[in-house]
Amino acid sequence: MQEKLKDLVARATEEAKSIHSEADYLNIKSKFLGKKSELAEYMSQIKFMSSEDKKLFGPLFNKIKNEFEKLFADKLEEAENGSETLTFDPTLPVNDNHGSLHPVTIVGREVTNILKDMGFMILSGPEMDSEYYNFEALNVPKNHPARDMQDTYWLDNGMLLRTQTSALQNRAMRKYGIPLKACAPGRCFRNEDLDASHENTFFQLEGLVIDKDISISNLIYTMEGMLREVFKKDVNVRLRPGFFPFTEPGFELDCSCTICDGKGCPTCKNSGWIELCPCGMVHPNVLEEGGIDSTKYSGFAFGLGLTRLAMMKYKINDIRVLNSGDLRYLEDFNVR
Ligand code: DAH
Repeated sequence: MQEKLKDLVARATEEAKSIHSEADYLNIKSKFLGKKSELAEYMSQIKFMSSEDKKLFGPLFNKIKNEFEKLFADKLEEAENGSETLTFDPTLPVNDNHGSLHPVTIVGREVTNILKDMGFMILSGPEMDSEYYNFEALNVPKNHPARDMQDTYWLDNGMLLRTQTSALQNRAMRKYGIPLKACAPGRCFRNEDLDASHENTFFQLEGLVIDKDISISNLIYTMEGMLREVFKKDVNVRLRPGFFPFTEPGFELDCSCTICDGKGCPTCKNSGWIELCPCGMVHPNVLEEGGIDSTKYSGFAFGLGLTRLAMMKYKINDIRVLNSGDLRYLEDFNVR
């Protein structure tokens, strides 16, 4: 009997290779597992066997039966998956889809190029940073209430995930001194509840200009010039007073919402304006902490929301799309 079973398994294994369709599968299944199959025949003989043989062959028959079932089903699946690739026609013209840059990358490069043309150098800093650079060097000491505005991811090693690209300001001042005209695009993190306009991971671009006699008019001129280039048209902007411990005075620069053209939509919270770019004159304490004499020099800084800008430019009304990795959306920005 054991020889016969061995032979049966060998034949079934061989024949399983010829399963190319569901019909083949059904035929072979019926041949090896059907009521009139060899295996069924052997199984029906079990009642005539000695109790020792029963113990040996009972489980063996079942094992073979299960193995056949799996083997045939696997071959069918293989054939079905394989048949999909057979629909590939090698004579078709080459698909020219090489993927595309992420909308935030596109916007980030655009803005940095504009700033580069305006004489800014481009810096980059660490995403994992220290409390000192992210807060203290920016005039936000421990227990300052402003820390509440930026719900921070603290790490076990005592560091944090930077909540703002402003974390680079002190490094830039210390490393390059005056005159300073630098920008730093990068990923920032905050422990936010997700909704259409909040993400825990987003991109900012920090700008920092320090020299003699830098004033608010330099700030406005630079921002307007940059946004005009980004949107390729004059956009409506407004400045409101804003509070940031590292600025004095501080502003919120708003841009008319390009998704609804100012009519009101979920992204702009029905206000018609998008808070685009907090900015301000660099606080004297921040200058001093960066080794710069605040009685001789002044500067302005801004923290442009690149993620927001990308949403405005591409009329994306839900921020969650950007980090979703959903190609159906992202493919639309097929710019290389
Ligand atoms: N870092 C601030 C934030 O993320 C934004 C900001 C405000 C940056 C004022 C600046 C600035 O450079 O001057 O909320």
